[in-house]
Amino acid sequence: MAADIWHFIKDILTIKAPTKSPLALRMVVLTFSMLCGLYICSICLKQVSIRTNGGLINIEVVQRPCEPPKIEAWERAYVHYPQPKTFSRAECRCNPVRYFAILSTQRSGSGWFETLLNSHSNVSSNGEIFSVKVRRSNISTIVQTLDNIYNLDWLTSASKNECTAAVGLKWMLNQAEILARYKPMINTTLIIPNLRQVEEMTAKALQYFNSTRHIILYYEDIIKNRTKLLDVQDFLRVPQMDLKSRQVKIHKGSLSQQVENWDDIQNTLKGTPYESFLHSDYKM
Ligand SMILES: *[C@@H]1O[C@H](CO)[C@@H](O)[C@H](O)[C@H]1NC(C)=O
Ligand SMILES: *[C@@H]1O[C@H](CO)[C@@H](O)[C@H](O)[C@H]1NC(C)=O
Ligand SMILES: *[C@@H]1O[C@H](CO)[C@@H](O)[C@H](O)[C@H]1NC(C)=O
Ligand SMILES: *[C@@H]1O[C@H](CO)[C@@H](O)[C@H](O)[C@H]1NC(C)=O
Ligand SMILES: *[C@@H]1O[C@H](CO)[C@@H](O)[C@H](O)[C@H]1NC(C)=O
Repeated sequence: MAADIWHFIKDILTIKAPTKSPLALRMVVLTFSMLCGLYICSICLKQVSIRTNGGLINIEVVQRPCEPPKIEAWERAYVHYPQPKTFSRAECRCNPVRYFAILSTQRSGSGWFETLLNSHSNVSSNGEIFSVKVRRSNISTIVQTLDNIYNLDWLTSASKNECTAAVGLKWMLNQAEILARYKPMINTTLIIPNLRQVEEMTAKALQYFNSTRHIILYYEDIIKNRTKLLDVQDFLRVPQMDLKSRQVKIHKGSLSQQVENWDDIQNTLKGTPYESFLHSDYKM
């Protein structure tokens, strides 16, 4: 419905990775926020009026309007009642749906986080949709793809037979592939500027979305503190469930065994604000 579309505001989940990231990240954040802005604009412009003209008889099927959900007034703008083209929401018709996007860097555990989300029967997170190049080739294809997802017409393994209450996707802040198959040699001259750059990038991204409802998640918090996942479910306003993932950690063992020149890195980070990263060993 036009009114729902008017109030299109996405909820944002941000995952921050304490790792270094490539140089192009800032540009990607900027581009992403521009795309988001454009998308929201184009959604606002696209007010579809549905008319049944022509023909001798005009039959209008009027469905009983849904009862307004029991939520605060400020939250009304965040709930939607999608009408998928590919199937009928039937008994779920009056279950409000919230839209979200997970913004994340590579190798930040967001894939694992997403499998946890998808183990919830009311949540559908559709993965890194825009890793397929043709879908991000221009603004029309991006809008079309997002429309399909948020209208629940994107049928994947993440689609639910239950009533979906939160639907979203994952968007990488950088498209660069940093595969951790080998032991990286970290440049000790660049590590501190790089860490600083990621910090700035994250601060900027948060500023772009400062007026959008969001929750910030740290990988460390999800690992160490399982009540964080309850916070996420509260944020998405879905009933609390025990979330599980079958993903396994690729890198086992201590951090010192993962980096070729660990001793140099240790010397470089000692006494800096980033010293705590040296002790960030996590067990799952
Ligand atoms: C956008 O890209 C799609 C797929 O590459 C193409 O078919 C379409 O013509 C493009 N539209 C515009 C407006 O450039
Ligand atoms: C979750 O799905 C169940 C089963 O379809 C449904 O009864 C329930 O209302 C849904 N919860 C929400 C918050 O939509
Ligand atoms: C580290 O990066 C700097 C700046 O890009 C470069 O000059 C230097 O050669 C690099 N060191 C190593 C060991 O690769
Ligand atoms: C959000 O950030 C902008 C600058 O990007 C700033 O002008 C505005 O005051 C901020 N709003 C809030 C609520 O912090
Ligand atoms: C775990 O997270 C909750 C909020 O989700 C917080 O209140 C609590 O203090 C955290 N516990 C630890 C041990 O960090």
